[in-house]
Amino acid sequence: MRITTISIFPDYFQPLSLSLVGKAIESGLVQWVNHDLRDFTHDVHRTVDDTPYGGGAGMVMRPEPWGEALDAVLADADPGTPPTLVVPSPSGVPFRQAIAEELASRQHLVFACGRYEGIDGRVAQWASAPDDRGVAPFDVRELSLGDYVLNGGEVAALAMIEAIVRLLPGVLGNPESLVEESYAEATDGLLEYPVYTKPASWRGLDVPEVLLSGHHGRVAHWRAERSRELTRQRRPDLLSNSG
Ligand code: 6GU
Repeated sequence: MRITTISIFPDYFQPLSLSLVGKAIESGLVQWVNHDLRDFTHDVHRTVDDTPYGGGAGMVMRPEPWGEALDAVLADADPGTPPTLVVPSPSGVPFRQAIAEELASRQHLVFACGRYEGIDGRVAQWASAPDDRGVAPFDVRELSLGDYVLNGGEVAALAMIEAIVRLLPGVLGNPESLVEESYAEATDGLLEYPVYTKPASWRGLDVPEVLLSGHHGRVAHWRAERSRELTRQRRPDLLSNSG
């Protein structure tokens, strides 16, 4: 998989060199290229923003540096399928596990990380517009991490990249971990049950008896019950979807 990140703060992506994602990059499983948006400006101040048409507070990212940056990405992209352009935004479609799974099957992901009040709307419009043969430069996905506002798309892109890359075959030490965890299909989209390890007694608290029983059927039943109860308490919205 190819991953391209574009931002005015390329240093935000340094954590990608750590841990499992770092290993995936080191091993060549993921080819990551990081761009500084300001490298695509032409004025001495390397300006990327301007005041919004229509008035209002804050600044908007100008379309020209984004256009040039995306042209450069396309010039270096593999011919054939258009890269997927992920635009992190609080106004995006909620990023969920199902979207992470879908994006994990893509050959080339490009993360366009905006700051300020966002990127001029024509950038996404241009990137998703089909040419005369019906082919758009990118498959554009505007995605939100949740119902809160971050200062820019970088932290959201980091979270999405981690959620996606860990799904690639060969990234997790034990692929079984993917099966049982929260939101996985195998758990009916419920929250994960609580987990315990040794010692069996700690600060007066004992590990639930059933987990020490060695009885797989009873363990599975207890975990399913705990999942359902936790989900009812914390995320009832997930229960109503799965019955
Ligand atoms: Cl993807 N971007 C920004 N700037 N804020 C967010 C977000 C994304 N998701 C939640 N808040």
